[in-house]
Amino acid sequence: VTSVVPLPANQAQALMDQAEAGAYHSFSPYSQFAVGAALLMQDGTVIPGCNVENASYGLTLCAERTALVSAISQGHRQPVAIAVWAQITPHHAITPCGACRQMLSEWLPPSAPVVMRHLTTGELVQRSVAELLPHGFVLPSI
Ligand code: THU
Repeated sequence: VTSVVPLPANQAQALMDQAEAGAYHSFSPYSQFAVGAALLMQDGTVIPGCNVENASYGLTLCAERTALVSAISQGHRQPVAIAVWAQITPHHAITPCGACRQMLSEWLPPSAPVVMRHLTTGELVQRSVAELLPHGFVLPSI
């Protein structure tokens, strides 16, 4: 499994701060759980994201995927890192769900850092996209 090429600590913290700012726009009336993301592009642009919940629950979009589709829809195609921030999660860092891991694995390099926050210690944790989704689905060429 491809290991992480981490962001320097100050850059990781700056990206996490932007993920926290992204959570400001969270639409989460059902879970009351605000999540923010910040996607760093190759050219240094940072695209924010937040979770957008839906009355059907299942159509809810996570912060990571809204950041990704926002970036792509604005013409940014080379994400190199992402940070994820959540309001309250005692004892755990928030880590991307399975659906988000699949999308991240299709848009970011395998070694790209996913920056998460250990919410008891406040410490930033960085794992590679490949570590979060080993053996992910790849469309076979036919
Ligand atoms: N959520 C995210 O936005 N990102 C994650 O990594 C985990 C879950 C959202 C989806 C839903 O709106 C809320 O958190 C509770 O599951």
